Amino acid sequence: MNASSCSLCKIWNSSIGKKYLVAITGLVLVLFLAGHLGGNLLIFVGKEEFDAYAKSLHELLHGAGVWIARAVLLSCLVIHVAATISLTRANRAASPKYGLTILAFVVYHLLHFTVRIDSHLAELAKTSPHAMVIAGFQNGVVVLFYVIAMTLLCSHLSHGVASIFQTVGLRSKKSAPLIDKLSKAYAWGIWAGFISIPTAIYFFQFGA
Ligand code: HEM
Repeated sequence: MNASSCSLCKIWNSSIGKKYLVAITGLVLVLFLAGHLGGNLLIFVGKEEFDAYAKSLHELLHGAGVWIARAVLLSCLVIHVAATISLTRANRAASPKYGLTILAFVVYHLLHFTVRIDSHLAELAKTSPHAMVIAGFQNGVVVLFYVIAMTLLCSHLSHGVASIFQTVGLRSKKSAPLIDKLSKAYAWGIWAGFISIPTAIYFFQFGA
């Protein structure tokens, strides 16, 4: 099979195909962020609720659910960033700094809370993911890193969400102001929600 006959290659080799790949993977990531934020905000509801939520995620489809979600998310993130890089290269535009920075944050975040390279956090996670998150945000440098990463992520989202509508042809001259406002509101909501967790824990000793 050569490059011109494989349908995935055809999508990749056309600029409109790549734009759709960016839009579809972007939409999956945008929806994931809302779901991930909703789940994480349970931290403010209570220890039992948050731990029960984390346990239910890990037990989904007898443990396969979380791995399916990881594979889908990782593929979406890699395709999203790679297609953006390729598009901006072709257009000789500025390098897609957001994508790479967010990718770097996700790698750090996975080492922090999923792989748990810190053995203290790994030990806490065995009995309570809630305790792990509280302990994970006791360090000011870590909190600052999360705040910077969330700010970059959300400034990207504020125009990224509107771009999805643009690519699928739903952003007309008439609807553009409303779509741009919704896009900004969504980004601010995601930013405020995610920022609230490390800052409440570090600055207001939430969970101590
Ligand atoms: C303050 C903000 C955040 C907190 C407190 C948080 C918390 C967590 C926790 C506790 C886990 C581990 C879930 C588990 O395995 O039990 C996790 C996983 C994950 N987070 Fe976050 N997260 C935050 C922000 C983000 C952001 C902004 C992104 C995306 C850009 C993200 C992407 C992921 C991904 C992809 C996973 C892996 C899912 C898995 O393998 O289970 N997180 N997060």
